Amino acid sequence: MHYSEAYNIDDLHRIARSRLPKVCYEFMAEGTEDNVALRNNREVFERIRLQPRMLVGVSKRTQQVTIHGKTFKSPFGIAPTGAAGLYGFDADVALARVAAKAGVPFVLSTASFVPLERITREVPDGTNWFQLYMAKEHEGAEKLILRARDAGYEALVVTTDIPVSAAREYNKRNGFEVPFKMRFGSMIDGAMHPRWMFGVFLRTLLDSGVPRLQNVDSNVGGRIVSKSLSDFRLQRDALNWSDMEWVRSIWPRKLYIKGIMTAADAREAERIGADGIFVSNHGGRQLDGAVSPMEVLPEIVAAVGGRLAIMTDSGFRRGTDIVKALALGANMVFLGRATLFGIAAGGEAGASRALELLRGEVDRTMGQLGVNSVHEISREHLVLDKTMFAKN
Ligand SMILES: Cc1cc2nc3c(=O)[nH]c(=O)nc-3n(C[C@H](O)[C@H](O)[C@H](O)COP(=O)(O)O)c2cc1C
Repeated sequence: MHYSEAYNIDDLHRIARSRLPKVCYEFMAEGTEDNVALRNNREVFERIRLQPRMLVGVSKRTQQVTIHGKTFKSPFGIAPTGAAGLYGFDADVALARVAAKAGVPFVLSTASFVPLERITREVPDGTNWFQLYMAKEHEGAEKLILRARDAGYEALVVTTDIPVSAAREYNKRNGFEVPFKMRFGSMIDGAMHPRWMFGVFLRTLLDSGVPRLQNVDSNVGGRIVSKSLSDFRLQRDALNWSDMEWVRSIWPRKLYIKGIMTAADAREAERIGADGIFVSNHGGRQLDGAVSPMEVLPEIVAAVGGRLAIMTDSGFRRGTDIVKALALGANMVFLGRATLFGIAAGGEAGASRALELLRGEVDRTMGQLGVNSVHEISREHLVLDKTMFAKN
C-alpha cells in the first residue's frame, strides 16, 4: 500500500510495519515490559463517549487554537521522538517542515540525529520547541539550553519521566542497545527491507556517516555505536524540582515540564515558574502499568487549568481522541508515533498525510459534535464512566 492510500493512522502504521526491519519497528511501536500502559493508552478512549448537539449551525467551524498568545492551525503538534532518523532520511528536519506547513508546533528531541541549530536554520518559519534530557550534573544541560536559546527555540520542554531507563526487552533481543550491537539477524532483516536499507540507512550513512546524537555531547556528538553515549544517561535518578528551578533561572522563554501525571506535580511545575506541562506517560514506554494521561487530566485541569498550558500525549491516533482530550480540558495534544508511522510509510509526504488525516478527523468530529471552535468543546460533550478517573 502507498501512503496516499492510507485513510487513517492505523493504515500508516501497517505500511510502516511492512517497511521497517524488526529492530527499528519494535523500538518505535512497542511499549515496555508487558505493554499494559501502551494498550491502556488506546483502550481508555473507548470508555469516553461523545454526546453531540444538533442544529447549532457548524458552517463556521475552525480548529485553530491559541496558546500563550500564539495561534496554531490545529489543536495538535509533533512530540519529541529520539532517533527519528532511523525511520526516514533526515526525519527530524522533515517533521519540522511538515509541522511548519501545517501551522502546528514541532518539538525536537535531545536524542535527534541532527544538531538542534539545523532545525531553526532550515525551518525558520516553524514553531520550534526543544526537548531537553538532563542529568544532575548541569554542565551538559547548560550547554544545550544556551544552544537552544541562541538557535531561537521558542520553548524548552524538559522531560522528567526517565529517572531510570525502561526495561525494553525487545531492544535487548534485537541488539538495539547503547552501544548498538550489530547482529547477523538484524543485517539479514535489513537486507530484506531494501527500501529502508537504501532509502534510509545507506542514504544516511553516505550523507552524514554513522548517525550521531548531535546534541548529546555538544562538542562532537555521540555516535550511536559508541560507549560514551551511555554516560549522558547517568545521574538522571538524582534529579528533583530544584533542578527545574535552575532550568527556569537560565531559560528565558516558555518552559514546559513533560511527564507530569499528578495534580501535585502540576502544582510543583507552577511553583517553579513553568508556563505549562505535558501530561504524558511517554507513550507507554517508561512505567508499565502507568495510568493514561486521559485518566488524570481532570484532576490536573482542576489544579492548574487556566494558569498553565496543559498539553497531553500518549496514544492519540484519531481526531475523536484529540477532541476527547480537549473536552477534558487539555489545551493541545501531541503526536509521537502517528507522525513517525507517516515518516516510515512515506517520508515527509507520509508524515504530512498523518497530519492531514487528523486535521480532517478533528474537523469532522467538531461538525458532528456541534461546535464551531475548539474552545467550545467541553465536558458537556462527554459521557463519562467516572470510575475511570484516578481522582475527581
Ligand atoms: C520512538 C520514540 C522515541 C521517543 N523519544 C522521545 C524523546 O527523545 N524525548 C521525549 O521526551 N519523549 C520521547 N518519546 C515520547 C514522545 O514524546 C511522546 O510522549 C509519545 O510518543 C506519545 O505517545 P504516542 O507515541 O502514542 O503518540 C518517544 C516516543 C517514541 C515512540
